[in-house]
Amino acid sequence: MTSSSPSFPSTSANMFVSFLAMGVLVVAAVGNFNQDFDITWGDGRAKILENGQLLTLSLDKTSGSGFRSKNQYLFGKIDMQLKLVPGNSAGTVTAYYLSSLGSAHDEIDFEFLGNLSGDPYILHTNVFTQGKGNREQQFYLWFDPTKDFHTYSVLWNPQSIIFYVDGTPIREFKNLESNGIAFPKSQPMWIYSSLWNADDWATRGGLVKTDWSQAPFTASYRNFNAQACIWSSGSSSCSSNSSSKSWLTQSLDTTGQARIKWVQQNYMIYNYCTDTKRFPQGLPPECSLA
Ligand SMILES: *[C@@H]1O[C@H](CO)[C@@H](O)[C@H](O)[C@H]1NC(C)=O
Ligand SMILES: *[C@@H]1O[C@H](CO)[C@@H](O)[C@H](O)[C@H]1NC(C)=O
Repeated sequence: MTSSSPSFPSTSANMFVSFLAMGVLVVAAVGNFNQDFDITWGDGRAKILENGQLLTLSLDKTSGSGFRSKNQYLFGKIDMQLKLVPGNSAGTVTAYYLSSLGSAHDEIDFEFLGNLSGDPYILHTNVFTQGKGNREQQFYLWFDPTKDFHTYSVLWNPQSIIFYVDGTPIREFKNLESNGIAFPKSQPMWIYSSLWNADDWATRGGLVKTDWSQAPFTASYRNFNAQACIWSSGSSSCSSNSSSKSWLTQSLDTTGQARIKWVQQNYMIYNYCTDTKRFPQGLPPECSLA
């Protein structure tokens, strides 16, 4: 289990949020990687192709690679399509996540743990609030994530954080601030992704190592779409159109609740909320409230 945070390219900058002004700005959110993202590391291993419609990350024995959004977001419905490293991807991790900065940062994580050809990827998720994570849930997927692009979404609004795979909700982290549990709501986050070698823990707990004869390993991204509040110099403006503004108030309806239950019953392979061995002095409070 990966209770420690993976080796994200980190920065120690601290952020002071002086005030938050919400305004509404109508923006058509047409994704273009040149416009929306910066390649942040990997020395040429990350590439923006097809006039900004496609981005690829690659990993070889020397280095992985990564990118980060130009904008910071404070709430949003953020979709990205990913096609994961095909074939023998054991030892590789593709992380796609939102995060703010600093030791009390907030973070919403998707991480895809590679595997031997034909063996299932694990989708690892986590939520950090005020620097505290340890909220892992892991899933198998109901499709091969390396054959085609699939849509991975985060809905982050003041009521909850919901993770979606192809529109199916797989996990919800509710705002339980009234019960004293921190919820991300004031630190703007960037969107990050990286592909790196984590064969010390990723595949079967580190038993299966990266086969470098298969390198370079490549993951692909397309169709980024954000209906979101963009943070800029102390205030935020929300992209929306009249038919889609609903993301800000959206919650799981009964169909969504049934879908989440279906995923959790059939595809969840780890849930911190049932790991009594790990939390001998009691499960985290949100586990009994959710
Ligand atoms: C890899 O495949 C093995 C065997 O099916 C499985 O136990 C494991 O959960 C899979 N995923 C990872 C990332 O280890
Ligand atoms: C408004 O948002 C909805 C939902 O994302 C989208 O389907 C629709 O095309 C958007 N309309 C315009 C005019 O951008």
